[in-house]
Amino acid sequence: MESLSTGVEGLDLLTDGGYPKGKSILVTGPPGSGKTILGLHFLHRSCQEGEKCILVLTRELTADILTQARSFKLNLEPFLENGQLHIRNIFEDKMNKIKSVSKFGKGLCAVDTDIIEYLSSMSSEADVVVIDNIGVMAINHDIKEFADEFSSISIILLKNGCTSLFVMDEDSYHLTHRLTGYMVFGLIRLTTQENYSSGKTKQYLYIEKMRNTPVPVKYSLFDITPQGIRIISGMKNSRHF
Ligand SMILES: Nc1ncnc2c1ncn2[C@@H]1O[C@H](COP(=O)(O)OP(=O)(O)O)[C@@H](O)[C@H]1O
Ligand SMILES: [Mg+2]
Repeated sequence: MESLSTGVEGLDLLTDGGYPKGKSILVTGPPGSGKTILGLHFLHRSCQEGEKCILVLTRELTADILTQARSFKLNLEPFLENGQLHIRNIFEDKMNKIKSVSKFGKGLCAVDTDIIEYLSSMSSEADVVVIDNIGVMAINHDIKEFADEFSSISIILLKNGCTSLFVMDEDSYHLTHRLTGYMVFGLIRLTTQENYSSGKTKQYLYIEKMRNTPVPVKYSLFDITPQGIRIISGMKNSRHF
């Protein structure tokens, strides 16, 4: 199966080359577990490889994400400038449109239709799509509506042959009965293990599912370094192991 590099060397080894081309992967985990960084690795590498990329942001400011990327030397600005990367910030667009703060919460309900409309018009041009974070779609919806909207997005991206990474926070993931996990091709969960006596935390990456791909080791210890995510154990053929 053809794949695109995840941008993380150790994860490419674990997934037999990277994310399966034209398919969608879900990344879930608690706040601060590295979901956004994983998305930035994928975007940066894809841009370097000459792919056309889209980043949809629903919760954070574009400037903050660009700064975060730069801090890991995953600078995205050159690709924004040459038109290879498009960033659509649903959250900021809403904020600009809705002048009155009291109406802001209500305006957020339409986030999902905005994502669907945007991807319908843009994704035929794109090779890679990262959506960070689809958890907002779980708010103000019953499970059926959420499932319908997530399916719509998945189908649009699948039809257009986009290799997609959906980031979803763990709370929304459980709130929606882990439904998105069943609907995607691959599922990666990031977990954080606290050690209260030492004050240190251990971070694990767990490839819960990857259709058609043999996954040698499911749980891998990883670190967030100044160069971003680095897998430090659990790798087959790895000198770190
Ligand atoms: N230079 C760094 N060295 C080590 N850890 C870092 C560094 N920069 C950020 N982090 C860690 O990365 C986490 C943020 O990762 P992020 O991908 O934004 O999380 P989320 O899963 O919420 O999207 C922070 O909690 C912080 O602990
Ligand atoms: Mg994040």
